[in-house]
Amino acid sequence: MLTVDEPFTLRDQVYVQTAPGTLAGRYLRCFWQPIYHSVDLIPGVPRPLQIMSQSFVIYRGASGAVSLLDPRCPHRMAQLSIGRVEGDAIRCFYHGWKFGGDGACIEQPAESNAFADKVAVRSYPVREYLGLIFAYLGEGEPPAFPLIPEFEWSEGFTEVDSYSRDCNYFQNLENALDMSHVAFVHADNRASFAGIGEGIRLEANPSTWGVSYSYERSDGAKRVQQFGMPNIFYMTALPTDPEIGWQESVFWWTPIDDRRHMQFSIHRVPAVGEAAERIHARRQARRKTVDQRHQDVCDAILDGRTTLAEVDRDRVDLVRLQDDLAQVGQGEVVDRRDERLGRGDAGVVAIRKAWHRELIALQRNEPLTHWTRSADLIPRAWTLSDGGLERSDIPNATPAPVVDVRPFVEIEEQLNALHRRQ
Ligand code: FES
Ligand SMILES: [Fe+2]
Repeated sequence: MLTVDEPFTLRDQVYVQTAPGTLAGRYLRCFWQPIYHSVDLIPGVPRPLQIMSQSFVIYRGASGAVSLLDPRCPHRMAQLSIGRVEGDAIRCFYHGWKFGGDGACIEQPAESNAFADKVAVRSYPVREYLGLIFAYLGEGEPPAFPLIPEFEWSEGFTEVDSYSRDCNYFQNLENALDMSHVAFVHADNRASFAGIGEGIRLEANPSTWGVSYSYERSDGAKRVQQFGMPNIFYMTALPTDPEIGWQESVFWWTPIDDRRHMQFSIHRVPAVGEAAERIHARRQARRKTVDQRHQDVCDAILDGRTTLAEVDRDRVDLVRLQDDLAQVGQGEVVDRRDERLGRGDAGVVAIRKAWHRELIALQRNEPLTHWTRSADLIPRAWTLSDGGLERSDIPNATPAPVVDVRPFVEIEEQLNALHRRQ
């Protein structure tokens, strides 16, 4: 591993390692990151959590407030996640020291001369938004929370989804701006609708948010996607139901460690009335029908125990399995020095360059780019309409209901991946 002040080049892939103290780790920690689903955090049940190779304890107190603290009790280093939640505080399992949600020690039962006011565990700012828990894991004051007004709307509902994948997060992030994979990896499903493989002109241009990526079809129709630094993606595609003609989605890729990561996503489903009820019922039924973990099926295929053709497509999340095969199949962490990139990889190159520039600035203590998404940085898919949404009305809208659509096997898998002790 590179030391933080050693010179590096693009080929060193410094963006891969995100543990505390690494350059990319420091950079990702400058931004709010999604780390957990709100519904998964049961009040009064603390959990050990691993994000970017760093351990935490996360819990929801009696008031509903979420607390995220360093994982160990500063008395004798017991694991706080086995402690007891009392109100919004947590009491250590070992000798009962009690810490508030802000990390301050408030009780030391065995100490006649208590020195609680000199003891604290570090706590991290958290915020619940659109069904997800976001955290700021960096130094100093957090930046303004990045709201996504397009998803605070009322003409339908917002689905929240996620999965864990057993490879470095950057592989998934690069895959976002790799349009040419869709026609092959997802050739036989709804994701490849409307001649997605016919793109003739591909452009990846720097934007005030990161990279604007467009792909032009032979008839002149364009598909445009927006990549936001450092790890956000805003796109229109992947309609998940026959009654949805289009769907806007935002994705985040959060490392668990350098060999696995989470994808969190929100999807705007533009349907109301009976159509909304039918779509909702189908999506909820699917949560049980999909009863095979795509990660297990991926392993079986990559290990030669079965083939993609033999997979029961109703029982596994096919799009995820296909992307698993492409991304995990590259290796958990890939040495890319022998890669042969072409014109079609312009999006991948654009992301790497944007990251590289920022990491160099961070290493030199120079100012980082202040990324902002202006109102015109929105996705488009060919000639698909945006469902009649009046974007200018969005900020005043009542937030849409947020609906969890994760298959139940997925929840179990991702919580196993996230709940890790030091
Ligand atoms: S280790 Fe936590 S109270 Fe002793
Ligand atoms: Fe894909």
